[in-house]
Amino acid sequence: MRYSIETFDLTKRFSLKTVADGKPLKKEVLAVDHVCLKIRQGEVFGLIGPNGAGKTTFLRLLNGLLIPSEGYAIVDGYDVREVGHKINQTSVAVPWLGDMGMQWVRQTAREYLEFEGRFWCIPKQVLKEKIPKLLKFLELEEWADEIPIKFSSGMKRRLQLARVLLRNTPIMLLDEPTVNLDPSSAWTVREYLKRTAKEEEKTIVLATHYMLEAEYCCDTIAFINHGRIIGLGSPDELKKKVVEYDIVKVAVDKVPQETIIRFRGIEDVISINVEKDTEVSPYSIIFSLKKDSTLIPEIVKEITKANSRIYEVSKTQPTMEDVFRRLGEVS
Ligand SMILES: Nc1ncnc2c1ncn2[C@@H]1O[C@H](COP(=O)(O)OP(=O)(O)O)[C@@H](O)[C@H]1O
Ligand SMILES: [Mg+2]
Repeated sequence: MRYSIETFDLTKRFSLKTVADGKPLKKEVLAVDHVCLKIRQGEVFGLIGPNGAGKTTFLRLLNGLLIPSEGYAIVDGYDVREVGHKINQTSVAVPWLGDMGMQWVRQTAREYLEFEGRFWCIPKQVLKEKIPKLLKFLELEEWADEIPIKFSSGMKRRLQLARVLLRNTPIMLLDEPTVNLDPSSAWTVREYLKRTAKEEEKTIVLATHYMLEAEYCCDTIAFINHGRIIGLGSPDELKKKVVEYDIVKVAVDKVPQETIIRFRGIEDVISINVEKDTEVSPYSIIFSLKKDSTLIPEIVKEITKANSRIYEVSKTQPTMEDVFRRLGEVS
């Protein structure tokens, strides 16, 4: 099996200077903490985690933009510590919003892509065919001859994505590529990524906090929190890990806090979480219960007694969201 990316105790620390009680204070942030991962060629590898988990830092270590504090990574055969610049030139494309600088001001969307294409030595004929296709695919056709400084953040993100797809490198590192896209463009992009990885054997590392996106696109998912990998596997494998519990969702109009506190103390109850604004009700109380627990009638009775209206009670299959919550609880 060929791995496109391997990381060996990859670690990144940032030192921060802050002020505490009027005195300067040096603080260290461990953004990526001894991560060991192997990412196969041709797979979509998801990196899921909350804000500040270390996803962006991890991707920047992989494309040679940051130097590891400890450990190393081999990306497309290159050691990031030694030839980071080569990785950027030949193997990896990344769509960060920050890296466009003054180009936003001077060039139209089409010119920007043409410039990028020439910069990366893509043959003229290929650019002529590919750029209009990409602009159409990413719904930027109408805006092709406008200067992107006027674009919304979703449009800028799509243009950045066009730049990555234009370069067509063997590895694509995508940092939250569908943020700010409308739902239909987001699904078009996801579908495209999944297909490209399969058909063209591209390796795609996809940092996201959309669980559905990860579940749909990814062959393997790594959950990351505080810079550490807290769960790793295919979506099905990860779900099996939490299947030892029953997940019961109670859709309600309000959350009876005291009842919930009482249930938290009961042995059969592993965890209780609340979701807001679900499809069927203002709130959904999610109970993870020991398998075959007989607690459900009791839960319904107590919530009703607390004057909450119950819209629906359902026993569900675990979702990626449940997996993440569960992993977060045990980490
Ligand atoms: N250049 C930097 N200097 C100092 N701290 C940083 C820097 N970049 C990221 N961090 C910190 O590292 C942690 C991980 O950040 P990041 O990789 O951006 O997470 P994510 O992409 O998952 O939201 C955060 O605590 C963040 O504040
Ligand atoms: Mg980030």
